[in-house]
Amino acid sequence: MNLPVKNIDDLNNAAQKLIDFGGGDKIFLFYGEMGAGKTTFIKYLCECLGTSEPATSPTFSIVNEYEGREDKIYHFDFYRLKNENEAFDMGYEEYFYSGHYCFIEWPEKIGGLLPPHYIRIEIQVLTNNERWLTFKKI
Ligand SMILES: Nc1ncnc2c1ncn2[C@@H]1O[C@H](COP(=O)(O)OP(=O)(O)OP(=O)(O)O)[C@@H](O)[C@H]1O
Ligand SMILES: [Mg+2]
Repeated sequence: MNLPVKNIDDLNNAAQKLIDFGGGDKIFLFYGEMGAGKTTFIKYLCECLGTSEPATSPTFSIVNEYEGREDKIYHFDFYRLKNENEAFDMGYEEYFYSGHYCFIEWPEKIGGLLPPHYIRIEIQVLTNNERWLTFKKI
């Protein structure tokens, strides 16, 4: 599925579309260059799922946890990961196979540890405020 985004205000609608596209799948991998808008989009997704505190970039830890209306959300940023051993050390499997939502930034860093099925989101920057989103079931 392809979805053009004209500006940040479109992300609310895009977030609902992505959750519907997932059809109950809960692992979402976000691809896109630095500053493409992965964290920003995840913030809107968390709002759609009924979190109270805003999602921010997980600056101090690899994973942040939020409480949604019906389910927990784990938000990962693997950017600073040096190797896949560090993912084992933080117990990534417990999160991935927990059945809760997992939103993952920089999945490229854990290429060998990806789950067999997930939703792949690609964010392409068109202009300052415009993005092109692609959703795919893997
Ligand atoms: N349509 C849009 N969608 C998403 N972000 C947008 C959009 N238009 C402008 N922006 C801006 O682009 C920036 C995206 O930053 P963000 O931290 O979300 O990127 P990121 O992909 O998570 O980067 P990083 O790889 O460093 O984690 C924000 O400043 C946001 O306000
Ligand atoms: Mg980010």
